[in-house]
Amino acid sequence: MSIDYSQKIPNNVNLNDDRRLQRALENWQPNYLKWWDDLGPNGSTDYDVYLRTAVSVDPKGWAHFEHVKMPDYRWGIFLTPVEGERQINFGQHKGEAAWQEVPGEYRGELRRLIVTQGDTEPASVEQQRALGKTCPSLYDLRNLFQVNVEEGRHLWAMVYLLHAHFGRDGREEADEMLERHSGDPDKPRILQAFNEETPDWLSFFMFTFFTDRDGKYQLASLAESGFDPLARSCRFMLTEEAHHMFVGESGVGRVIKRACEIMRDNKTDDVRAYGGIELELLQKYLNFHFSVSVDLFGQELSTNAANFYNMGLKGRYQETKIDDNHSLHDDSYIVSEIKGDVIGTTEAPALTAINERLRDDYIADCQLGVNRWNKIIQKLGIDFELTIPHRAFHRGIGSFSSINATPDGKIISQAEWEARQDEWLPSNEDREYVLSLMAPVTEPGKMANWIAAPDRGINNQAPEFEYVRFN
Ligand SMILES: [Fe+2]
Ligand SMILES: [Fe+2]
Repeated sequence: MSIDYSQKIPNNVNLNDDRRLQRALENWQPNYLKWWDDLGPNGSTDYDVYLRTAVSVDPKGWAHFEHVKMPDYRWGIFLTPVEGERQINFGQHKGEAAWQEVPGEYRGELRRLIVTQGDTEPASVEQQRALGKTCPSLYDLRNLFQVNVEEGRHLWAMVYLLHAHFGRDGREEADEMLERHSGDPDKPRILQAFNEETPDWLSFFMFTFFTDRDGKYQLASLAESGFDPLARSCRFMLTEEAHHMFVGESGVGRVIKRACEIMRDNKTDDVRAYGGIELELLQKYLNFHFSVSVDLFGQELSTNAANFYNMGLKGRYQETKIDDNHSLHDDSYIVSEIKGDVIGTTEAPALTAINERLRDDYIADCQLGVNRWNKIIQKLGIDFELTIPHRAFHRGIGSFSSINATPDGKIISQAEWEARQDEWLPSNEDREYVLSLMAPVTEPGKMANWIAAPDRGINNQAPEFEYVRFN
């Protein structure tokens, strides 16, 4: 099914057939555009950016690339089409037909899930709004803007669900999406990782690797939902999300490559002397972004998560591929916990351990990406290995938030933590160093000195392609 771009709000949900809904969304649209103007990418109004736009929801060939003036990007509502008779695949309603309308008894829970997901989307745009001023290349600038416009579209996806299925309180929630702001002392975003700053490009690449990957796992478990419109929204969002994680993984990979090249070519360990970012510093950024992102999965044991599962609202990662009874009532799951002064494991009811299981899936996926980074280091003949810190390290949520732990999972005192945290997390001086490298490079084909060129261009464009035209 292709998307109708002749309408004010491009969509594949037959918005024309529902005039009330169409009017309500058309009323929200100018507020969204005003938000984009106020808190979207700084000063980008006149830029022509080589963006991809969804022209269909077919996984093969859904994207169209061309230069677009940023505010003219067509944000729309795209759901993966209904595939026959979908069923609810887990929880107490397993085997029943998937819901096309919100089940009354779960209205509050569903709304909360949609609002929590939706809130993260504009938050990351706000967090990243200043980065355009210090882009390491036009290629990177274009990728930043691509991520930003798609996060904006993800907000549209969630706002559509609120408007279409939750009546008046849905419309109010949609308005509040534009009233909370990242880091606002009075009206902050809902989840803490989305109130942190993204002050530099290294943070941006780490964010898109680690925090957008949290998004992937949240969307994937919502894509299993018994509420079919939510499942279908999230499926299409996942297609776009893959590129965000590519931006993160390849971005960090290029910083690694540059550091290793400096070491190899100059036979030195002093990467900073040559204006690069040393691997030890990358490790600290990795530690920071990993730890704030694992927090996003919530408490290890959670009755809310158990309820969402039981109700059929939010499943596990790749629910239908798991070989079990999909009700989890008598099952158990191994969870890490504090045992005296060490970290051990315990068996917990699988239902209440749903969050921890998703966190495990996420950590395994992060590890694969880190392995690929280590391959780059190896290939360049450097003896260094990046590692993922222990899940107990630097936590703000869950049982480990009550203790201090080293990156390899040893519990330490508050005094030792304070004395040593600069070994493990970026110090002020480290952050200032990274910031000092952030000078814009906007000549086509040129790269900042601290990052290697990408292996290939977007949509196979040549290295000197003008991804962004400033007017
Ligand atoms: Fe998103
Ligand atoms: Fe994303």
